[in-house]
Order: sequence, then C-alpha cells, then structure tokens
Amino acid sequence: MKKWTYAAAAIAIGGVVAAGAAAVSAEDKPMLTIDGETFTTHVKVPDDHPLAPEVISGWEYRTRETQALELDDFQNPAFLAVEQGEELWSAVDGSEGKSCESCHGDAAESMKGVRANMPRWNEAANKPWTLEEHINSCRKDRMGAEPWKWESSEMLGMTAYVGLQSRGMPMTVQTDGPMASWIEKGKELYYTRVGQLDMACANCHVDNYGKYIRADLLSQGNINGFPTYRLKWQGVGSLHRRFKGCMDQVRAKPYKRGSDEFVALEAYLASRGAGLSVETPAVRN
Ligand code: HEC
Ligand code: HEC
Repeated sequence: MKKWTYAAAAIAIGGVVAAGAAAVSAEDKPMLTIDGETFTTHVKVPDDHPLAPEVISGWEYRTRETQALELDDFQNPAFLAVEQGEELWSAVDGSEGKSCESCHGDAAESMKGVRANMPRWNEAANKPWTLEEHINSCRKDRMGAEPWKWESSEMLGMTAYVGLQSRGMPMTVQTDGPMASWIEKGKELYYTRVGQLDMACANCHVDNYGKYIRADLLSQGNINGFPTYRLKWQGVGSLHRRFKGCMDQVRAKPYKRGSDEFVALEAYLASRGAGLSVETPAVRN
C-alpha cells in the first residue's frame, strides 16, 4: 500500500522523486553544536510513531554549507531579525505607554521555554494559540497597540527573538485535554491529498524523506526551527509561510496564515516532533 502511494506520488509530480538517495548515513552524522551546546537532531521513537524509528530535524538534510550557517550566530543571517526583535522588546508602543519589557522584564527569563510548547491552549479563545497570536493579544489587549501582520518584519523579529530563548530545549506541546482534537484534526489534514497534484503532506515528508525531489533533499518536514531563515526567501519566514509554500508546490489552494487548519497542522507537527531541540532561528535552503 505504501509502495503504491509512493509510486503514484512520483508519477503525480512527474517522476522527480529519485529513489534510494538516502544522504544521511549513520556513521556520517554531523552534530549540531552551538556555543558548546549539542542539540538533539534525532530522537528514537516507538514503532507506532509515524516516523519510526527516528524523528529527524531538517537540519540533518541540508548541505554542509547550509548547516554551517546555523552553527555560528555571527554567520546565521536570521540574527538580523533577532536583533530587530530585541530592540522591539523594549520599545514603548500603543496607548498604554508600555513595552513588552514593562511587563515581562528580561526575555531570557520570562520567555524561556515559551516557544517549546507552542501552540498553547488559550482558555478564553477556546482554541490553541500560536506564538504570533500570544504576541498580538498582548499588543492589542495589554498595550493598546496595533497587532502586527503575520509575516511582517516586526512579527518575524519578535518570534525569532522570543523563540531563541527556548533554543536547545525539547519540543513539548500539550497533547491531552482540549489539545487532543486539534492534533487529531491536524493529522487528518496532513494525510489528506490536495491540489492538482493530488498529494498529501505525508506523501513527501513521511513516505519519501531522505530522497530528492528535483534538487531538494526531502526532510520529514519538522517545525522545530521556525521562524527560519531560508536561502530561497533571502530572509526569515514563518512556519505558516512554509506550509503555504508546500501547498503551492502541489497546486492546492493554501489555507491562510493563522487559519484553524494551519494551527491544527502546527499542533500536530509539534506533537509529532516532540523531543527535538528548538533550533529557532534555523537556517534552511
Ligand atoms: C511535493 C512534495 C511536498 C509536499 C506534498 C509537501 N512538502 Fe513540505 N517541503 C517540501 C520540500 C521539497 C521542502 C524543503 C526540503 C525539506 O525540508 O524537506 C519542504 C519543507 C517543509 C518544511 C520545513 C522543514 C524544515 O526543516 O524547515 C515543513 C514544516 C513542511 N515542508 C511542511 C509541509 C506540510 C505541512 C505539508 C502539507 C500541507 C507539506 N509540507 C507538503 C516538499 C513537500
Ligand atoms: C501590560 C503587560 C504586558 C505587556 C505590555 C505585554 N505582555 Fe505579554 N503577557 C502579559 C500577560 C499578563 C500574559 C499572560 C501570562 C499568563 O497567562 O500566564 C502575557 C503572555 C505573553 C506570552 C505567552 C507566553 C507566556 O509567558 O504566557 C507571550 C509570548 C507574550 N506575552 C509576549 C509579549 C510580547 C512580545 C510583548 C510586547 C510586544 C508583550 N507580551 C507585552 C502581559 C503583558
């Protein structure tokens, strides 16, 4: 059944998935070490996990050159965004005359671990909130400021800066209680074929990771590095931009950034990738 799916998928995308090109061999495994701290880029998982035997960070699938950019914060081009986020952290904005710092103090303390368990259930909204939604809720309701657009440089800078405070921590999203049905919905979407090419996320990222699609080595599509600097974008982009790009590739009509569908996908992928180190801000091609 799985073989058939792969064959159909390869035909659907014009046979561009090259079989058997596993580029990540065990003895050749590079290590992601930043400032002396080694990150978890692969996690052993039980047989019933969709990615068994291992969940693997997208970092392992990139070329040595691209990998190297993430090893050194001075070379990592995403740090321009981080710097912008850091400046915004202490910038007063809105009718209440407050900055993030007025309430949250030192981000290294107050934001530590926040990115690692996103999206997080919000009782009042009765849905999971992404990091973007938490930030905009503070801007609107607590600062009296305009919310930032999802893909604005301000929002990307702030999510990169806040995310950095969790770098190296394991992804641990809540999976029980009210989160369970969102994760289930995300999983359903992940396995649903869409678009003119009639492909599901899983056809590429579960059935074919480790193989080439055109010039690109397919990873498992994990989300532990977002927001991420992409060489192709020549800038930092959000997770939902990446989702949209993948839906464009199969010529499906993409869901909107912040839509329930993308939040559900995010929740599912956060749970599927549990244990991987947060790499925010990662570098990918
Ligand atoms: C036609 C194949 C294909 C399909 C279908 C596809 N993607 Fe991708 N995706 C890619 C390629 C190619 C990349 C870039 C290389 C990589 O990391 O796999 C990518 C990258 C990603 C990444 C970034 C991984 C990282 O480490 O930064 C995520 C997340 C992702 N995809 C999620 C999805 C989701 C969610 C769907 C379904 C809505 C989807 N993809 C459908 C081909 C696909
Ligand atoms: C007037 C005080 C105030 C300001 C200003 C403020 N926040 Fe918050 N923020 C809060 C409170 C209160 C919470 C909820 C904490 C909780 O539920 O435990 C919160 C929650 C958050 C969260 C969710 C994570 C967590 O620790 O609960 C994030 C992320 C966040 N704020 C980021 C920001 C950012 C970024 C800014 C500036 C753009 C900002 N906040 C400005 C008071 C504020």
